[in-house]
Amino acid sequence: MALNGRTVMLALAENESVKRTLVQNGMSKGMVQRFVAGENLEDALAAAQRLKAQNIGTALDLLGENVATEAEAAASTEAYIGVLTAVAEADLPPPYISIKLTALGLDLGDALAAANLRRVLTAAQAIPGAFVRVDMEGSAYTQRTLDIVRVAHTEFAHVGTVLQSYLRRTDDDLALLNAEKISVRLVKGAYAEPAEVAYPDKADVDAAYIWQMRALLKHGHHPAIASQDESILREAKRYVREQRIPNDCFEFQMLLGVRRDLQESLAAEGYFVRAYVPFGVSWYPYFMRRLAERPANIGFILKNLVK
Ligand code: FDA
Repeated sequence: MALNGRTVMLALAENESVKRTLVQNGMSKGMVQRFVAGENLEDALAAAQRLKAQNIGTALDLLGENVATEAEAAASTEAYIGVLTAVAEADLPPPYISIKLTALGLDLGDALAAANLRRVLTAAQAIPGAFVRVDMEGSAYTQRTLDIVRVAHTEFAHVGTVLQSYLRRTDDDLALLNAEKISVRLVKGAYAEPAEVAYPDKADVDAAYIWQMRALLKHGHHPAIASQDESILREAKRYVREQRIPNDCFEFQMLLGVRRDLQESLAAEGYFVRAYVPFGVSWYPYFMRRLAERPANIGFILKNLVK
């Protein structure tokens, strides 16, 4: 694994005293609120309303991952169904949720996570226009996540997943999901991965993203181009123009709190933009992954720890 800002930050995240201090103070000191809508569903719905006023859609992510018991997995499943219902009852576009299979019990077995996903998808099926995106986690879960989503997709059309450009395997996975008409959100990848499975150099990840994005836009099924990288977004716009791909055949997705200027300008240009809106009490791992994406954030976090 290459030692870079991201790996240092993700290693720091495992330190118990860093974790304790941040969990105690992070939300109250406002450090977390840039990236996380709040700890409650009401906070997430309020964020979705604000985004709607700017013509920006929402993917709601109820934070939480790696549950350790069946009861916790059942509780996450119920909570996700609650999110679907709450959005459907609010004055908002149809619900679109992002879900992690480790929150549904993947560490306890594929069958449990698949059954819980099925419950969420069955609930979503009753809501016109609802969509469930299965996030992609660390590489230990990639194959199992794809297997579960592919089986689910044979029964439910309203499920898609995520592929990470940093993984060496992604070209093959993309070809397979495109052939099966499974909607893909393409991201660069946010976890610390060994060089055997992921490109260690950012330039290689960026290059892979570009060619995979072109394949996805050309052959994918309602893809999501999820990036805040201006050069990637520029290339996406050039490519869809060149290939005459209509704006309603794909969407741009970006993270809450990152490059709001770009989200607004793309929406103003007539592209569909969706913001990923995480919420909930289990915000720590998500927050640390966001900080790890920018080396400058290491200084920020250390300053706040010693304050
Ligand atoms: P890059 O990291 O090169 O950043 C480009 C520019 O964006 C930076 O120069 C900076 O200006 C800005 N920027 C990016 N991140 C920032 C941050 N945290 N703070 C401040 N500025 C920042 N990953 C994953 O492994 N599994 C998943 O399921 C998902 N899901 C997902 C959904 C959506 C909607 C998005 C946008 C992203 C994800 N990701 C993800 C995260 C993804 O893998 C990646 O880590 C981030 O999007 C950052 O990559 P960029 O493409 O923005 O490029």
